[in-house]
Amino acid sequence: MTREEQHAKLLAKMESLAEKLPPAQKAADIVIGRGNLNSPLMFIGEAPGAEEAKQRKPFVGRSGQLFNKILIDCGLKREDFYVSNVVKARPPNNRDPLPDEITAFMPFLLEEIAIIKPRLFVSLGRFGLNFFLPDDKISAVHGVLKRIRWQGEITFVLPVYHPAAALRNGYMLEALKRDLAKIPQALKYIDNWESEQSQLKNIKEALF
Ligand code: URA
Repeated sequence: MTREEQHAKLLAKMESLAEKLPPAQKAADIVIGRGNLNSPLMFIGEAPGAEEAKQRKPFVGRSGQLFNKILIDCGLKREDFYVSNVVKARPPNNRDPLPDEITAFMPFLLEEIAIIKPRLFVSLGRFGLNFFLPDDKISAVHGVLKRIRWQGEITFVLPVYHPAAALRNGYMLEALKRDLAKIPQALKYIDNWESEQSQLKNIKEALF
C-alpha cells in the first residue's frame, strides 16, 4: 500500500469510529494531518480550532497563518512538511484537550507517525511536547533539540511554543521565530548523526 493509501485508510478508520473518539461526535468532525507524506519533518500541534474544523485541515486559521508565514521566512514551504495534531477533533469552545481525548486519539497519532516516518518532530505547544516528554515544561525546553528514546526508538524532537500563544505574547513570538529557524540545521545535524551511526555499525560488524 502506498503512503497515500495508508493515510486515506487511517482517516476512514477514524471517521468510522468517530462516535467513540471524544471530542468528535461524527465522521465530519475528524481533522487528520496533512502535507508531504514523505517528509522527514512532522509538526504536532494540539487540536483543531474553529476554522480547522470547518475546512477539515490543520493549521488553516489565524495561528496557522502565522505559523506558515514564519516557516516561509525560514525557507520552508507547506510542501516540505507534514502537520497534524494530538487530538483530531475540535474541543468545544477551544478548551484544552482532556486526558481521555488525548488517550482516545493516541493510537491514531502513532499510526499516522508510522505512515510518515519523520526524522524530526517539531512539537507545537505543551500538548505536542508532552506527547513525547510528559514531564517537560515548554518554557524550559523550547528551542532545544532533544534526542530521546521513545516507543523503543531514538527520536529527535524540537519543542517550540504554540503559534496561538505567539499571537498573544510578543516574547513567545520572538522565541517561536528563533526556534523554528533552527529546523534546517537540526535536519542537517540528524543527517550527520544517522550517517555516523551507520558507519559505527559497519565498523562494529567488520570487527566483531
Ligand atoms: N491549533 C492547533 O493546535 N492545531 C490546529 O490545527 C490549529 C490550531
